[in-house]
Amino acid sequence: MPDRSAFTDAELAALRADFPILSRTVRDGRPLVYLDSGATSQKPRVVLDAERDFYERHNAAVHRGAHQLAEEATDAFETARRRVAAFIGAPARELVFTRNGTEAINLVAYALSNACAPGALDGVDPELAARLLIRPGDEIVVTIMEHHANLVPWQELARRTGAVLRWVGLTDEGRLDVGAYDGVLSQRTKVVAFTHVSNVLGTVNDVAAIAAKTRAVGALSVLDACQSVPHFDVDVGALGVDFLAFTGHKLLGPLGIGALWGRYELLAALPPYVTGGSMIELVRIESSTYAAPPQRFEAGVPMAAQAVGLAAACDYLTDLGMDRVAAHDRELVAYALDRLGERPWVRILGPRDPAVHCGAVAFTVEGVHPHDIGQILDDGGVAIRTGHHCAWPLHRELRIPASARASFSVYTTRAEIDALVEALERVPQIMGVAV
Ligand code: ALA
Repeated sequence: MPDRSAFTDAELAALRADFPILSRTVRDGRPLVYLDSGATSQKPRVVLDAERDFYERHNAAVHRGAHQLAEEATDAFETARRRVAAFIGAPARELVFTRNGTEAINLVAYALSNACAPGALDGVDPELAARLLIRPGDEIVVTIMEHHANLVPWQELARRTGAVLRWVGLTDEGRLDVGAYDGVLSQRTKVVAFTHVSNVLGTVNDVAAIAAKTRAVGALSVLDACQSVPHFDVDVGALGVDFLAFTGHKLLGPLGIGALWGRYELLAALPPYVTGGSMIELVRIESSTYAAPPQRFEAGVPMAAQAVGLAAACDYLTDLGMDRVAAHDRELVAYALDRLGERPWVRILGPRDPAVHCGAVAFTVEGVHPHDIGQILDDGGVAIRTGHHCAWPLHRELRIPASARASFSVYTTRAEIDALVEALERVPQIMGVAV
């Protein structure tokens, strides 16, 4: 029977000791209350040590060189690929390392537009080629709650191919209007891109339902999992999507590493995105042929130390138990919704049901710009994110210029949410707003 309990206080205290940065102070000696893990998470010592060990003992250019260090570095990189792929239930050959989640989504979007070049899909099964070929008048479907990383690449793909961009909106409680897909999807739909968890609203979307609707019209589904993979068990086999993008730095891993998972037959049919060394099969002066995936999509010397660090982060989370990580997050979200919800002058964005709300709670205070909220909280040592959180269309839809967002990770405590609320109490008074 898997353990699905949240961490005890003692476990949480021990876990926090793994993160050196959490013991520092900010703003004249105040304890750091880091509630910005949705932007980037902090890193446990095992991740820092894994990167350091790579550089101190094995550093060499991966997939090149005929010496022992090159062999060790290549082995460390490919072992990291296996561990990171296993973390999302995938075989290693379906996992492409990228710089971050943004690059992973761009990889799919650019590979699809490269597939439109004459001859790019030669040799690909005609039925599969027809799915990959985007023509003028075809449609790409996104949602109003997307991070710019899962919107702008699709706008660009539409511009390059003559396809039409369409989108699905929200229900009143900040959930995706899944029923609206029935009116939007058609035989013209080629790509359906959507987020697993909104980086602002925290909404957890019904991936299986959207993936099934996408499959029914023969389109490709692309899931932005940047905000889900850090918080609960994500198994690509169970989701039913075609591609999934995530980033390492929100997952307790290093900056500069992310990943794209894709069904192998799709990766194998797609042309490359970035070209150069490492991704080739045969090069002649006139033209080249390309390596099989994942190497086809990893041109240049790869970020091996970061991959090793990310694998250490995945192992760390696996050791904690993703069911327990999820229980901890649910408890924090429920507590934050309760504590903030007690204050009528705080407008909470996103679902009030913690069962479909993950990782972050965004809010506004009537009459106060979120940047002022951020500054007042920062004076109290509480770090949150303010602004449009790279989700400008969502904020337009909500008719607000910006919002404040507290976001959580495995090391976040209820006491930190209390500190947030306490610091927030000063906002109406300092800003002269009646509550
Ligand atoms: N995508 C990150 C966020 O939502 C940076 O804050």
